[in-house]
Amino acid sequence: MNEYLSMLYLWLKSAHLIFVIFWMAGLFMMPRFFVYHQESAVGSEEDGKWIEREGKLRKIILNPAMIIVWVLGLFLAYDIGAFSQGWFHAKLLAVLLLSGYHGWMMGYVKKLARGERTMTDKKLRLVNEVPGIAAAIIVILVIVKPF
Ligand code: HEM
Repeated sequence: MNEYLSMLYLWLKSAHLIFVIFWMAGLFMMPRFFVYHQESAVGSEEDGKWIEREGKLRKIILNPAMIIVWVLGLFLAYDIGAFSQGWFHAKLLAVLLLSGYHGWMMGYVKKLARGERTMTDKKLRLVNEVPGIAAAIIVILVIVKPF
C-alpha cells in the first residue's frame, strides 16, 4: 500500500510539472501576443484575429493549466506536510504573485477586446520578465529548500 502511495505521489508530481510547463508557456506567450496585437488598428480584421487567438490561449491553456497546477500542488503539499515548512510559505507567496500576474493578464485581454490599449509596448516587454523571475525563485525554493 505504501509503495502504491509513493508511486502515486510521483505520478502526481509529474503531472504537476507538466501543467507548470503549460502554464508558464502561456504566461510567456500572452504579453508577446499583446505587443503584436497592439500593432493592428482597433476594429480591423487583424485586431479580430488577435482577440480570437488571445481568447483561445486564455480558455484552452492558461486558465485550465493554472487550476490544475494549483489543485495538484496543494495535494502534494498536503501529502508531504509542507504547510508547516518555510520553503513552502515562500513558494506559496511567489505562486500567489504569479497568479495575480495571470489575473492582470486576463484583465488586459478583456481591455484589448474592448479596444482599450493602456500599456506601451515597452511596459509590456518589461512585465514579460515577471514569469521568468518568479519561475527561477520557485524552482530554487522547491529544489534547494533553503529554509
Ligand atoms: C500553484 C501552486 C503550487 C503549489 C501549491 C505547489 C506545490 C508543490 C509541492 C508541495 C511540491 C512537492 C515538493 C517535494 O516533493 O519536495 C511541488 C513540486 C514542484 N513544483 Fe510546485 N507548486 C505550485 C506551483 C508551482 C509552479 C508555478 C512552479 C514553477 C514555476 C512549480 C515548480 C515545482 C517543481 C520544479 C517541483 C519539483 C520539486 C522536486 O521534485 O524536487 N510549482 N510543488
